[in-house]
Amino acid sequence: MKMTQIIQKKREGGALSPEEIRFFVEGLQNGETPDYQAAALLMAIYFRGMNQAETLELTSAMLQSGDSIDLSDLSGVKVDKHSTGGVGDKTTLVLAPLVAATGVPIAKMSGRGLGHTGGTIDKLEVFPGLTLELPTSQFIQQVQDIGIAVVAQTQSLVPADKQLYALRDVTATVGSIPLIASSIMSKKLASGCEAIVLDVKAGKGSFMPDEASAFNLANVLVEIGEGMGRRTVAVVTAMDEPLGHAVGNAIEVAEAIKTLKGEGPADLVELCLELGTQMLLLGNRANEEAEAKSLLMDAIHSGKALAKFKEMITRQGGDASSVDDPSLFPTAKYTHHLKSHDEGYLSSLNAKAVGVAAMALGAGRETKGSPIDLAAGIYLYKKRGDKVAKGDVLATLHAASPQQISEGILQLAEAFAFSAQPPAPAKLILGKKMIK
Ligand code: URA
Repeated sequence: MKMTQIIQKKREGGALSPEEIRFFVEGLQNGETPDYQAAALLMAIYFRGMNQAETLELTSAMLQSGDSIDLSDLSGVKVDKHSTGGVGDKTTLVLAPLVAATGVPIAKMSGRGLGHTGGTIDKLEVFPGLTLELPTSQFIQQVQDIGIAVVAQTQSLVPADKQLYALRDVTATVGSIPLIASSIMSKKLASGCEAIVLDVKAGKGSFMPDEASAFNLANVLVEIGEGMGRRTVAVVTAMDEPLGHAVGNAIEVAEAIKTLKGEGPADLVELCLELGTQMLLLGNRANEEAEAKSLLMDAIHSGKALAKFKEMITRQGGDASSVDDPSLFPTAKYTHHLKSHDEGYLSSLNAKAVGVAAMALGAGRETKGSPIDLAAGIYLYKKRGDKVAKGDVLATLHAASPQQISEGILQLAEAFAFSAQPPAPAKLILGKKMIK
């Protein structure tokens, strides 16, 4: 078999055989396929796509490129949750303890942030002493003991994805549905879960700017999950404006804690209840949506969800004092209140522009491995549909230097658009995909 033939076949729109897909993935791993041929094939896939069988085979070949976690010693249905990435998306910080507090075991491996979207593991770094890299046996033991662990993905989890993603990143081939779907699902499958709830974002701040492609991605993700024998539900949700009010790291953790205390912003609460409901249904903890929602609400109002969060931080060696006293979170040296020059209604708040501004302030990383400032970020006082008067504070920016503040202001100013009339209400939950 030759890579040139495989590239040519895909370039001409052919469907690759399982052997050809494995030859490509294995060749990449053992160094026999040079990057330039892998890149050419990725571009051919980008333009020609892959059918369901090819996408499933690619996922399976990627999954087998590394280790898989065996969670079979844990009792209960192990349900994982994944978001395709957005701005201000702190749902895992809320959902993991919330769902665990209802009795569904949460053994979660999360990623770090890249570009204008944040990552759970970076956010958890705000707790001094917290260990995010646990040996597998300890990870499983912790879930056995307290029902929850959230850790960083190990290096040996789907190494083929690391190679492929790095190539996609520099060849403008990230935005291909079969490549995104196989990348996400190979990691979910390797982390040992039995059921998966996916939050597929659609809109300006996400990978999928339009709803049709988000639904398309949702379909492919569900087909892969079910094809690999995992119950899978995908919820397509709007990511045109940031989720909640806080964008950054410490600032988002503080908002997640407020949400666990029952004081969260409406959009974040709505999303957590929707995704949590799907998790409880797949986890056989509830039979109906109403029952699941009431279990989740009870876990918040009884304080059990917050207590579970503290228990997890402490068990992983972290100092949880900031959960009760948010003033202990790292604070930025410089802040700036961005005031409105306009009046009317906020007709849109561009999530991508807010994410890029947060990155300029130091809250995100442009390239893998670059450091981030946990205290940097943005607090948005106004959200889409809110009435704004001239001089109202739209947002507060937090950063370590005046230069970063100036750059953040420049980027953030792009995010706001106003109208004289209130904009039509926008839906957050756009739809669901599942195989009944
Ligand atoms: N998230 C992933 O893990 N992979 C992609 O390709 C895109 C989003």
